[in-house]
Amino acid sequence: MPSDTLTIVDNRTGKQYEIPIEHNTIPGAELNKIKASPDGPGLRAFDVAIANTATCKSNITYLDGEGGVLRYRGFPIEELAERSNYLEVAYLLVKGELPSTTHFEMWQHNIKMHTIVHENLKQFIDGFRYDAHPMGILIGTVGALSTFYPDAKAIHDVESRRVQTRRLIAKLPTIAALAYRHSRGLKYVSPDNDLSYTGNFLSMLFKMTELKYRPDPVLERALDVLFILHADHEQNCSTTTARVVGSSHADPYSVVAAAAAALSGPRHGGASEDVVRMLHEVGTPDKVPALIESVKAGDRRLMGFGHRVYKNYDPRARIIKKIAYEVFEVTGKNPAIDVALELERIALEDEYFIERKLYPNVDFYSGTIYEAMGFQMEMFPVLFAIGRTAGWVAQWAEMLVNDERIARPRQMYLGEGLRSYVPLDRRDDSGEREPEIRAPY
Ligand code: ACO
Repeated sequence: MPSDTLTIVDNRTGKQYEIPIEHNTIPGAELNKIKASPDGPGLRAFDVAIANTATCKSNITYLDGEGGVLRYRGFPIEELAERSNYLEVAYLLVKGELPSTTHFEMWQHNIKMHTIVHENLKQFIDGFRYDAHPMGILIGTVGALSTFYPDAKAIHDVESRRVQTRRLIAKLPTIAALAYRHSRGLKYVSPDNDLSYTGNFLSMLFKMTELKYRPDPVLERALDVLFILHADHEQNCSTTTARVVGSSHADPYSVVAAAAAALSGPRHGGASEDVVRMLHEVGTPDKVPALIESVKAGDRRLMGFGHRVYKNYDPRARIIKKIAYEVFEVTGKNPAIDVALELERIALEDEYFIERKLYPNVDFYSGTIYEAMGFQMEMFPVLFAIGRTAGWVAQWAEMLVNDERIARPRQMYLGEGLRSYVPLDRRDDSGEREPEIRAPY
């Protein structure tokens, strides 16, 4: 018997099935062949939160959560953070290889050609309330881009996909900067294509009366590295959203808007915002033990800690911690870092966190850097979205090239059996409260 198979005996029928194992997975469709009766439904895997199911084959990002390893297209994240830049990493993710000099120049040129947005898009952003959350602005505005580029619907046309990819990577920083300036009541700043991708972003954010904005090279590099660290992370919540929405053949702007919406939640990219809020609430390192106790009592979660896949230190957090000190050399120290360090120290020695393998994740230190650079907390998930755009579009294109079917999971139905409709005037009207949705299990 070949060893790379799984033998299953269905004790309902006594039948034995041999299922192939490929790359440590079994094909879900094989389970469907296991039936209690010939006309009955096939067996299904029950996997809430898609926690133990490979939903695609991918060549993009390798992640070993136990070993704390992250690689883009085979290159270790540490090397890319040290030696590459965001635009080169975006090229690597989207195209599969590092660019030659000529190709990189073309890529840079092509991205810069798309940094400007349509004037109507600025009016669209003006329509948001002065205190609108920038992540809400980003999600809405990226979605609106599909109405500006109807050619994006040609998702099977390689050239169209290339153009939309460049537009998305180019316009995300512009939209993010517009959202930032809108929240501050500041006049919008046009892109400056003499600057680098990240330098131009800083200019669109922070330029005031000066004729030419010159970004501080340390801050420019730090933000660029943060974009690299956030660029992809295989099948996380927002990337899975991108693939699922893309599988319906929606246009890429709708795909990226949906992915950004998934990112905005506090369990995902929104955590960056909540970490700093939590650090401020704690205030000083001596108050950390009280926070740890409330976390252990189950009153709250330690934001920026824990990860579905990493059961060892998140390699991105290690790099970010180092960058924080480089940034503080320029901006002055963010006192929140002392609270963060004390939190990490105590948590990593505490049985509660050790037992559950809870370590700082990418967002634990990033917020302290962003805050020192002058961003308000609401901007943190927006910065995450800029970096992750390259990953989303790479994963979306891979899904299309794989010619994947529309995503359509199954469910375990536990609701009512067949019932007959009762007219309104014959229903029980004595209850004081309306029924609430109940958990099925
Ligand atoms: N603080 C305290 N306890 C935690 C934390 C935390 N941050 N995270 C998990 N736990 C505990 C849970 O209470 C649970 O304990 P139990 O077994 O006693 O019930 C156990 O660890 C397992 O937790 P799950 O919720 O099952 O872990 P899951 O993999 O579903 O969640 C998640 C992962 C969402 C990241 C979670 O760790 C969390 O909420 N962290 C805080 C938010 C955060 O930082 N999110 C950013 C993640 S990185 C990113 O998206 C870029």
